[in-house]
Amino acid sequence: MRLSVKRVVVLLLTIFGTYALTRTLYQVLTCPRKVPRTHMLSVLVRNWNQTEYRYNQNTPMVFVGGVPRSGTTLMRAMLDAHPDIRCGEETRVIPRILSLRQGWGRQSEERWALEEEGVSQDMLDDATAAFLLEVIARHGEPAPLLCNKDPFTLKSAVYLSQIFPNSKFLLMLRDGRASVHSMISRRVTIAGFNLSSYRDCLTKWSNAIEVMVSQCLVVGRGRCMTVRYEDLVLQPRSTMQRVLRFLNSPWHEGVLHHEEAIGRPGGVSLSRSERSTDQVIKPVNLEALTRWVGHIPADVLLDLENIAPMLRRLGYNPKANPPDYGQPDPEVVNNTQRVLRGDFKTPTNLKRWVQRWITPPFCAVHREGLLQDAQQPEKEIRSIITMQ
Ligand SMILES: *[C@@H]1O[C@H](CO)[C@@H](O)[C@H](O)[C@H]1NC(C)=O
Ligand SMILES: *[C@@H]1O[C@H](CO)[C@@H](O)[C@H](O)[C@H]1NC(C)=O
Ligand SMILES: *[C@@H]1O[C@H](CO)[C@@H](O)[C@H](O)[C@H]1NC(C)=O
Repeated sequence: MRLSVKRVVVLLLTIFGTYALTRTLYQVLTCPRKVPRTHMLSVLVRNWNQTEYRYNQNTPMVFVGGVPRSGTTLMRAMLDAHPDIRCGEETRVIPRILSLRQGWGRQSEERWALEEEGVSQDMLDDATAAFLLEVIARHGEPAPLLCNKDPFTLKSAVYLSQIFPNSKFLLMLRDGRASVHSMISRRVTIAGFNLSSYRDCLTKWSNAIEVMVSQCLVVGRGRCMTVRYEDLVLQPRSTMQRVLRFLNSPWHEGVLHHEEAIGRPGGVSLSRSERSTDQVIKPVNLEALTRWVGHIPADVLLDLENIAPMLRRLGYNPKANPPDYGQPDPEVVNNTQRVLRGDFKTPTNLKRWVQRWITPPFCAVHREGLLQDAQQPEKEIRSIITMQ
C-alpha cells in the first residue's frame, strides 16, 4: 500500500517534470525571447504659450470613428471645443497605415518572408505606433488629451488598443439610411461605395459598421463607447456628459457651443478639405436628422432587412420612415429655429475665413452641400420641432 502511494507520487512528479521541461524547451525554441524595449518613442510639442507636452505610447488618447457621414466631425468639433482635448482634422494617412500594417500581419506568406528577413511583427508594431504618435501629436495644437478622428480607424480598434494601451474609442452610430443619403447627395467619395446605388451603399454601410461594432465589443465597454448621432443632436448635453465622464474629463459648457470656438487658439480647427466643414460651422441643430426620408428607392426600402441587417441590430426600425429618434432638447430646437430663420449668422471674421477656405476646387462641392441645406424641405425639420 505505502509502496504504491510512493510510486504514484513519483510517477506524477515525473510526468509533471517532463511536462514542465518540454514546455520550457518548446518556448525557448519556438519563441525568441522578447528583447526588452531599449527606448520608447516620445514626442515633445510646445503650444503657442510655450507650454510643453510630452506624449508616448502610454499616453491616454481618444480615437473617434464610425462609418463616414455618421457625425464623426460633429463629435470631434464638440470635443475640440473642450480646452483639455484636441482632435483636429482628419489625418487621412492613419487609416492607410493601419490597413498596410494589417496586410503585413495577415498574409501568411508575406509575414513569413518578413520574419525571414528579420522584420518581426513586434518591430512593425513599434514602427506603426511611432508613426501614428508622431502624426497625432504634431498635426495640431498640443493638449492634455489627444484625440484622432479618421472614421475608418475604428475598424482597427482592437489593434490600436494594443499598441496604445491607455487609449479609448468613441464609435459613432447613425441610421444607415441617413449616412448613405448624405454620402450620395453630397457626393462624398468613399473607397468601395458605389455612389450611384443606395442598395450598394447600404450593404457596404452594414458591413463596415458590423466590423466596427464587433471590434468595439472586443475592446470592451471600459475602453470603447458607442454614441448615436441622433442622441448627440437631440440631447447634446446629456450625451456629451456621458462622453466626457467616459473620457475622465471634467464637464465644460463650451462643448455645447463648438461653433463659437472655431478658429480660436485651443478651439476647433477646420480644414477646407473636410466634407462636413460647412455643416459644423453651425450650432448643433436638427437639419440633417431626417433629410433622407423620401429619397431611398422603394425596392431598396422593401428589402432593407436583407440589404442592411445592421439597421435592426442597432435598433433603427427598417420599416419606419423615419423611426422615432427621440425628443429634442429645447436648446437644440432653439438652434434649429435660428438656423432655419437665418438668424444664425456666421460671425464676420469667420465668414472671411469660410470664403478664404471654401474656394476652388472645393467650391463646387461645398456649394452643392450648401444649396441642399437651403433647398431641402423645411417641413421635415419643423415636424420634429412640433412633435414635442
Ligand atoms: C499662458 O501663459 C501665461 C503666462 O505665462 C499664463 O498666465 C496663462 O495662463 C497661460 N495660458 C494657457 C492657456 O496656458
Ligand atoms: C454602380 O451602381 C450602378 C447602379 O446600380 C451601376 O449601373 C454601376 O454599374 C455600378 N458601378 C460599379 C462600378 O459597380
Ligand atoms: C434661443 O437662443 C437665443 C440666442 O442664443 C436666446 O436669446 C433665446 O433666449 C433662446 N430662447 C430660448 C427659448 O431658449
